[in-house]
Amino acid sequence: MKQVQIDRYGTPWEVARCAEVADVGAPRPGEVVFDVLAFPINPADMWFCRGAYRLRPLLPATPGAECVGRIAAVGAGVTDLRPGDLVINLQRENWAQRRRVKAEDAVPLPAGIALRQAAMLRINPPTALLMLTDFEHLAAGDWVVQNVANSAVGRILIVLARQRGIRTVNVVRRPELADELAALGADHVLVDGPDLGDRVKRSTGDARIRLALDAVGGAATQRLSDCIADSGTVVHYGSMSGEEPVFPRSALIYRGLSLEGFMLGRGLAKRTTAEVREIYAGLAAQLVGGTISAPIDSVYPIERIGEALRHADQGGRNGKILVTPNGPI
Ligand SMILES: NC(=O)c1ccc[n+]([C@@H]2O[C@H](COP(=O)([O-])OP(=O)(O)OC[C@H]3O[C@@H](n4cnc5c(N)ncnc54)[C@H](OP(=O)(O)O)[C@@H]3O)[C@@H](O)[C@H]2O)c1
Repeated sequence: MKQVQIDRYGTPWEVARCAEVADVGAPRPGEVVFDVLAFPINPADMWFCRGAYRLRPLLPATPGAECVGRIAAVGAGVTDLRPGDLVINLQRENWAQRRRVKAEDAVPLPAGIALRQAAMLRINPPTALLMLTDFEHLAAGDWVVQNVANSAVGRILIVLARQRGIRTVNVVRRPELADELAALGADHVLVDGPDLGDRVKRSTGDARIRLALDAVGGAATQRLSDCIADSGTVVHYGSMSGEEPVFPRSALIYRGLSLEGFMLGRGLAKRTTAEVREIYAGLAAQLVGGTISAPIDSVYPIERIGEALRHADQGGRNGKILVTPNGPI
């Protein structure tokens, strides 16, 4: 079977290759085997290939934090999954044609779910959801400000916030995205820049914003801190700039702001297995209903993983890059 492997850490499209490896074999008791139908290339996968992610396994290594699969076989004792069922996998190393995992890591999906969207269910939708719920108690009428607002996380957050009556200020780096994000329910769309705090105040009528979500880092983190009220929280959850967040001492000491970090794994680890399953069931239902989705720019076969990675690294994409290891879906 085919599997993406990196033999060294470095520029993703230079180090990743599609290798021919032994099949995963039949499932053992308590395990399932599934065919990987699609996986997205997320920013964290790029960091993984570069050797700059929190996980830096021995080489050769296979990237891939998420995917959608179809169960091919189940081992003895597995009663809640059957061949043909669609699943997402809570474990990694998903850039391959087939995976063999513990049955408890394969979360079943509802029939009728759009496969390409399901490939992106595991990480970005719960990230958006937990950041909205786990830091500040926001109610209808409250505000949140976020950068990378046109990212998959950002778009889903706009919709989830809107469903709760929470208003959003959305910071992007390309003005042409304004109409698209407004159509999702964005209240304001602003282009990032030095006077961001003043512009946010003007556009919201000096609203008391308590939560800011930052996935850019560097001076962009500080600009978000300028947008929120005293005692508010800036949540740093990614660094598309590759820079460490800049956070002024005056914001911490005089204004009482908090700088928090978010990692999905930690957010889910605070919850029981039943609660995690419930989160995914709720988000999967929203995918089926079409209320949340992430745009897809292009789809590649696994043999063209290098091209796919090079494309994923380009700014200004119109959505995610997906790979379909077992043929088009
Ligand atoms: N901590 C966690 O648990 C967790 C979980 C999920 C995601 N994340 C993070 O969330 C962020 C978004 O992920 P995603 O999968 O939703 O992203 P995505 O859909 O691939 O979109 C990438 C976004 O980053 C922007 N961008 C790229 N380079 C940039 C730069 N140098 N400066 C400013 N903006 C830049 C892009 O803007 P253009 O469209 O203008 O190029 C786009 O808005 C990433 O940082 C990711 O690591 C974190």
